[in-house]
Amino acid sequence: LPVESRPFASYGSALHIALPRPLSAGQLLTLEIDYEAGEGPGVCWLAPEQTAGKQKPYMYTQGQAVLNRSFFPGFDTPSVKCTYSATVQVPEGFTAVMSATSWEKQDNNTFVFKMSQPIPSYLIALAVGDIVSAEVGPRSRVWAEPCLIEAAKKEYDGVIEEFLAVGEKLFGPYVWGRYDILFMPPSFPFGGMENPCLTFVTPCLLAGDRSLVDVIIHEISHSWFGNLVTNATWGEFWLNEGFTMYAQRRISTEVYGSAYTCLEAATGRALLRQHMDNTGEDHPLNKLRVIIEPGFSLFLGVNPDDTYNETPYEKGYCFVSYLAHLVGDQSKFDAFLQAYVNRFKFQSITADDALGFFLEYFPELKEKGVDSIPGFEFDRWLNTPGWPPFLPDLSPGEQLMKPADELAELWAADSLNMEAIEAMDITVWRTYQLVYFLDQVLQKSPLPEGNVERLSKMYPKISKAQNAELRLRWCQIVLKNNLEAEYSKVKDFLHSQGKQKYTLPLYRAMWAGSESARALAMETFSATAPQLHVNVQNYVKKILGLE
Ligand code: BES
Ligand code: ZN
Repeated sequence: LPVESRPFASYGSALHIALPRPLSAGQLLTLEIDYEAGEGPGVCWLAPEQTAGKQKPYMYTQGQAVLNRSFFPGFDTPSVKCTYSATVQVPEGFTAVMSATSWEKQDNNTFVFKMSQPIPSYLIALAVGDIVSAEVGPRSRVWAEPCLIEAAKKEYDGVIEEFLAVGEKLFGPYVWGRYDILFMPPSFPFGGMENPCLTFVTPCLLAGDRSLVDVIIHEISHSWFGNLVTNATWGEFWLNEGFTMYAQRRISTEVYGSAYTCLEAATGRALLRQHMDNTGEDHPLNKLRVIIEPGFSLFLGVNPDDTYNETPYEKGYCFVSYLAHLVGDQSKFDAFLQAYVNRFKFQSITADDALGFFLEYFPELKEKGVDSIPGFEFDRWLNTPGWPPFLPDLSPGEQLMKPADELAELWAADSLNMEAIEAMDITVWRTYQLVYFLDQVLQKSPLPEGNVERLSKMYPKISKAQNAELRLRWCQIVLKNNLEAEYSKVKDFLHSQGKQKYTLPLYRAMWAGSESARALAMETFSATAPQLHVNVQNYVKKILGLE
């Protein structure tokens, strides 16, 4: 058949295929496309040095949002769902894994995968490397390079099943069969990616104490919100992420209680504050509904990948929490969420579909006109940028936040009250309490001359932390206070991993800092750029004015 590639957007082109004769609706057609995927942002080829073991190369794909079009030709939109199968032949000594409901190893290092449930294209994922697995639950195993497998097993042995079981109790059956986790090489740009049956995660989660397990609960929550009920367009990405944040915190509340969950939610709110301060509240990306147009240059239309910021997550979370607040009864709202999943499973929907169903499910709220309460109109939530008009009550977390607030206050004083500071024992604090404390310190920074140096000496648990969430905050504090003596920590952290949400804030902080901070940015980027995911590379270049 005659084929032609036509311009479509800055992030991909369209494949036009002329059919021999017109088809009528409902008529089936089999189309075979023979193609080769080479360089492209969706398929990442890593040299041995870029892996944990540094012995063998590695490859993986990352589809979300619109990168899988460089992996295979297809309808690369979340509004279309299909099943898939794949036959993957790899060299001796390598293992292939995919986001599939079943797989089988055949002769000749050939793996055959099948996904029997319809999914959107962005959830098709493949990884090949020197990877092995270990069981961590009745339907779960961890996959990792051999040098990490023990740590991976230890981190999550025996905990995954509880999250799945609580998710099923709240939201209905888990339809994907297995829930496995693949620990990726350090340059993986996300904390986690909810590829069905096989979540991909950053190795930064291997903190040794399960403290970053909220990422796993988040990805598990996508099993219902995102993977079963999917946003029909990337302009309504909050339907995936806002509902998932809500579901994550529901599971977390059931497992860990409301105090801890509210503390974690408060750190999320701090991230939203930082994001809106950075971009300006009125930035068009700070609406829940974003206009995506396939522009041909970076200046026309929004690239779907640019919607990956805190607004769909945390403002989306606030909107779903607001809906729960309107209902006023947690168990009734839980029942609604389960009905919502059941109503829209295996479909792709718009915010209008979701909100229409909400009003249909609660006719008494519809009658009261809850969608048009002045200041809280559903339309305003969706289409007006800015800080959420409603914030859920996080006071159950106060018992954990208050000491951290007080300690941050003490460290921000002009003359330090060491007696009061020493009276507070932070060695017993949980990671998220320290994270919350550091966010407060960062907000108050720069601190009076000399305070950060003393803080650094007093709390090696923080300034020498191995935990990535703590390292990020400590590096941000170092930069905001221009503590040149600890610049090497920023450099080491950026050399050790390539997660977008860690990398970009640090480059922004360096670029907003002193001459020496800017020099640090340039030096670090030129050394680490080849290891970063191309999308992350491009975002850093933008920050540093390199394009
Ligand atoms: N689906 C996202 C990751 C993503 C978003 C990839 C947009 C590509 C484009 C994933 O579920 C996610 O939200 N990960 C978070 C986890 C966090 C919110 C707990 C991350 O990576 O930080
Ligand atoms: Zn997510």
